[in-house]
Amino acid sequence: MSLDVVILAAGQGTRMRSSLPKVLHGLAGKPMVRHVIDTARGLDAERTHVVIGHGGERVREVLADCGVRFAVQAEQKGTGHAVAQALDGLGSGKVLVLYGDVPLIRRETLANLLAQVDEAHMGLLTVTLDDPSGYGRILRDDEGRATAIVEQKDASAEELEVTECNTGIMAMTATQLKRWLPQLSAENAQGEYYLTDVIAMAAAEGITIATAQPATASEVEGVNNRAQLARLERVLQSHIAEALMEKGVALADPARLDVRGSLTCGHDVTIDVGCVFEGDVELGEGVHIGPYCVVRNSRIGAESVIDSHSVIDGAVLAGHNNVGPFARLRPGSRLAIRARVGNFVETKNAEVGEGSKINHLSYVGDARLGRDVNVGAGTITCNYDGANKHRTEIGDGAFIGSNSALVAPVTVGKGATVGAGSTIGRDVADHSLAVTRARQVTKADWPRPTKDA
Ligand code: UD1
Ligand code: CA
Repeated sequence: MSLDVVILAAGQGTRMRSSLPKVLHGLAGKPMVRHVIDTARGLDAERTHVVIGHGGERVREVLADCGVRFAVQAEQKGTGHAVAQALDGLGSGKVLVLYGDVPLIRRETLANLLAQVDEAHMGLLTVTLDDPSGYGRILRDDEGRATAIVEQKDASAEELEVTECNTGIMAMTATQLKRWLPQLSAENAQGEYYLTDVIAMAAAEGITIATAQPATASEVEGVNNRAQLARLERVLQSHIAEALMEKGVALADPARLDVRGSLTCGHDVTIDVGCVFEGDVELGEGVHIGPYCVVRNSRIGAESVIDSHSVIDGAVLAGHNNVGPFARLRPGSRLAIRARVGNFVETKNAEVGEGSKINHLSYVGDARLGRDVNVGAGTITCNYDGANKHRTEIGDGAFIGSNSALVAPVTVGKGATVGAGSTIGRDVADHSLAVTRARQVTKADWPRPTKDA
């Protein structure tokens, strides 16, 4: 049977106190609702429908490339009414109802639930909670068969004692859903069309309500405020940390790591505390990342050491590199094997050849350095003339003295030397010395001025 997933995402999310629609708030660097969409994709859903309402246009924009269908619920008249908005677009197989603000639901849990669904059975995911307040309660008959869900606001004192709760997640066939939804009524405490009422309809038809439970309650936890979002962020991050450790990564503290994207590591990678990884990051075997680094969309080759407080963005490091502390590699930075970039150095769109060193306080942008180049402290490539960017080329084995300005476009030849404090605006030939600073004047026994009496 084919599968349609319907994701409810029309609610306002008032308690987030945000201009951003709730389901677009990020979890591990990705909007909550995208986690749910990705899970649906993992189930090989034929179609995924997102029911939008509050902030619907923003949601539509952000999800434009997700390949989902949108159903608009102009007015929020309840969960049953929300699902009904997607009814026309459903196929003839199974339907799974998920929530844009319940981001950590696992594929395995859902696959389990779906496996039980056919024309004689529907599936309902329930969870037993110490504090069930606010949740719909699962009612069961003497034989333990689920027969109905009663909402908190409609429940009797006796029903409120029940601790088995409705997660809201359920699955049925499209035929069943199309039969039941038009029968919903809003005659209840909240005046809403409750999706939960389909349970009693199913039971009345003699359809078995097969219940299943998630592995942990976090899977079915919804986000209503920022504290809950932050809590789920830690839950998700702890899963990511565990998976990394299983693959042989040494984490100084699994609770002080944030991965907002995909992080792939070779064996014996060590990561100190407080690091953030964003986008697609690959760390080769034996790479060490010092404390408080940010690495975004970069590849760091084997046996490289990144010292503390470095920011590496859109860079490729071949391996055996030393970077930082306090280095900033910006997009287009490429370090060949054994190249070093030290403290307070910024590189951008720069190739640094094998074994070359830029160890202190420099800016190297739009440049190519050959192998074994030594760039002295405080060297600046003046790559921008106020209108255009220009390139700096430095040949193999060149030595750039400290506090030099290389005014691009300019080439420093192989084995050439630039004297400290020079401003180089013309090409320097191979193996020559260029120095532009004024000659030093020394006056012997010079009397220092004294204060007037
Ligand atoms: C719902 C369930 C309750 C369950 C609880 C789990 C119903 C009637 N009740 O209650 O049994 O224990 O979830 O959290 O289903 N939504 C829409 N359009 C609407 C109404 C809701 O898209 O018209 C979306 C909301 O954005 C939200 C979700 O559906 O993501 C749940 O709605 P909410 O009002 O929070 O349901 P509860 O009252 O908590
Ligand atoms: Ca409600």
